[in-house]
Amino acid sequence: MTALTIAVRFVHLGSLTLLIGAFAFLLLVGRPAFRKGGAERALDFERFDRLLLVLAEWSLLIAFASALAWLGLQATVASGLPLGQALTLKTVGTILTGTHFGRVWEVRLALIALLAWFLFFREREQDERDWTAVRLEGVLLAGGLASALAWAGHAAATEGSARLTHLAADAVHLLAAGVWLGGLCPLAVLLAWARRSPDASWTAVAQEATRRFSLLGLVSVSVLTLTGTVNGWILVGGIPPLLGTPYGRLLLVKLGLLLPLIGLAAWNLLRLKPALLAPPDGVGGGSRIAILRRLTRTAVAEASLGAAVLLVVGALGITPPALHDQPTWPFAFRLSWDANKDVPGVRLAIGAGVAGALLGAAALGCATVRGRHRPWAIGAGLALWAGVIPVPFTYLAVDAFPTTYVRTPIPYQAISIASGARLYQLNCAGCHGEAGYGDGPVIRGVASTRADLTAAHTALHTAGDLFWWLSHGIPGTLMPGFQGHLTEQDRWDLINFLRSLAAAEQARALTPLAEPTPWFAAPDFAFGTGVGTGQALKDYRGRAIVHLVLFTLPRSIPRLEQLDAAAEKIARAGARTVAVPMRDAAWIYRKLGSRAVTFPVAAEGSEEIVATYTVFRRTLAAEGLPAVPAHMEFLVDRQGYIRARWIPPERPGWDELSRLLAEIERLDKEVPRAPAPDEHVH
Ligand code: HEC
Repeated sequence: MTALTIAVRFVHLGSLTLLIGAFAFLLLVGRPAFRKGGAERALDFERFDRLLLVLAEWSLLIAFASALAWLGLQATVASGLPLGQALTLKTVGTILTGTHFGRVWEVRLALIALLAWFLFFREREQDERDWTAVRLEGVLLAGGLASALAWAGHAAATEGSARLTHLAADAVHLLAAGVWLGGLCPLAVLLAWARRSPDASWTAVAQEATRRFSLLGLVSVSVLTLTGTVNGWILVGGIPPLLGTPYGRLLLVKLGLLLPLIGLAAWNLLRLKPALLAPPDGVGGGSRIAILRRLTRTAVAEASLGAAVLLVVGALGITPPALHDQPTWPFAFRLSWDANKDVPGVRLAIGAGVAGALLGAAALGCATVRGRHRPWAIGAGLALWAGVIPVPFTYLAVDAFPTTYVRTPIPYQAISIASGARLYQLNCAGCHGEAGYGDGPVIRGVASTRADLTAAHTALHTAGDLFWWLSHGIPGTLMPGFQGHLTEQDRWDLINFLRSLAAAEQARALTPLAEPTPWFAAPDFAFGTGVGTGQALKDYRGRAIVHLVLFTLPRSIPRLEQLDAAAEKIARAGARTVAVPMRDAAWIYRKLGSRAVTFPVAAEGSEEIVATYTVFRRTLAAEGLPAVPAHMEFLVDRQGYIRARWIPPERPGWDELSRLLAEIERLDKEVPRAPAPDEHVH
């Protein structure tokens, strides 16, 4: 079925390409070229014109037939039935009226009908204006037909602000491809005709056609490169998805076909065209014919490569875009600046690499000048490149695994971190220590600095690296793999917990004074106040600073009363207080009794919030992991970063309300500097 779908898409794309190409070629290349041939070639032009219109008619019929086949295939895919049973009026009707694909298909069918009407029922053109009008309508309708495919492809599924850009780039890409690739066949025919009758007027026709088509090709290739880059960026978005997903690899195949195609076009432009246009300095018609033959051959070769490109495009359309796919990294290493920036000599190596690359380029540049020095220059250039360019890469390489660039499917939220924390105590603490310092009883005495999970190096690995180690272990060390023991979700929960652990270690320096730069993402959490609907920390994003209070009764009662009395002041400064009971959440309202507070008290969900946020209790003052305090407060800025923390009895603290208000006001005035933290670990 997949092969059939690819074949149908290929035939459809191919016929559209020929359709656009025929009309565009007649208007932009054929007519002006034959004019150069003078009155002698007028009859030939009529013949050429008729031939291309027949080509267009057949292309249109094939486009129509393949569109029908496509609809049939879509019916089988959508209904899940075999082809024979899927083709009922009901399923096809549902697709046509009820799906996006169906609506785009209807519009395109209308365009096909309109074009057919123009083509098959046109009257003989009376004059030049009529002639132009029909071909122009042809280009516009065929172009519309091809561009509308953008709305049936991946671009239609792009969301957000990139959608319009993507659709526009895709539509223009299809159009430019049609004009260029579709023009190659007519060009080959024209050149072949010219070759067969080597007189001056035919030469003039061939010269003008080549000149114009080169220009057309240059413009089209530029447009294709630009729009292709935009599309590629939106659908692939980076090197790992390019190398590690089926979509990315197909795209590489497409580029691999395009490079020789563009190379051939460049050869035409730079070598054959000037030779054809050069005045015949006694070389005679013979060499002209040879040049024309070569031009024809390259046009045919280009057209074949173009067809292969369309085949790949046919396959790309039904492959999930790399962006939505999990990449499988193909190499055992990757390059990382962050992991290696402190390695001695790395800057020197990069400097040397860049200098060597430039010098090599300069030597190769010298080699373009003819002379006896040439072989030396080429040798020196290549030797420099081969010897020096790899040097910085050896410095920047770090180990990588197939899952290195896999993204976590589980957001960085309290519920996941809390579950990870539980799993950690059960499975990992024996070796890595209760607090992650690598000092568990099982491996005490084994010298391994890497077992300290709070150290900076853990943060340098991608989440995908950690996932690989958690699944398969680290060979040659005590670190075991947990693939058979923990589910995938468990392993991602653990990774979220490890991220919070690393953050907690770095956040030891947090104080009641707001951190100047936001970097410490506040894990999101959902909570319920016991009355009505649930809320999430994220709901406050962009709206208010959150003053998060973790409290224990009865100890925190005076503080809650103080905050309640100041609620209005705090709100005016720009913050909302959210209180989370650290114990006895189920009967917290009973315990609060008549001291009903006006801010939300997270009675539901508190367990996960407490498990997660108490990880952030490490301070510079205490060595290792301090005991869980009875009361903690945090300020989370509008973008979702934790910026300040107060753990009583730290002094000076927020028990002096003016200090709390001052920090809130400071954050409130701030212009947002960092992007909102990502829910996913990288
Ligand atoms: C039997 C002891 C043992 C157990 C159990 C264990 N580990 Fe390890 N782990 C180690 C040792 C030892 C290392 C250091 C390996 C090295 O020296 O390269 C390590 C390394 C790691 C690393 C790599 C750290 C880095 O930055 O290089 C991670 C991540 C890790 N362990 C996570 C876990 C998690 C999560 C669990 C529980 C699911 C766990 N480990 C269970 C012994 C253990």
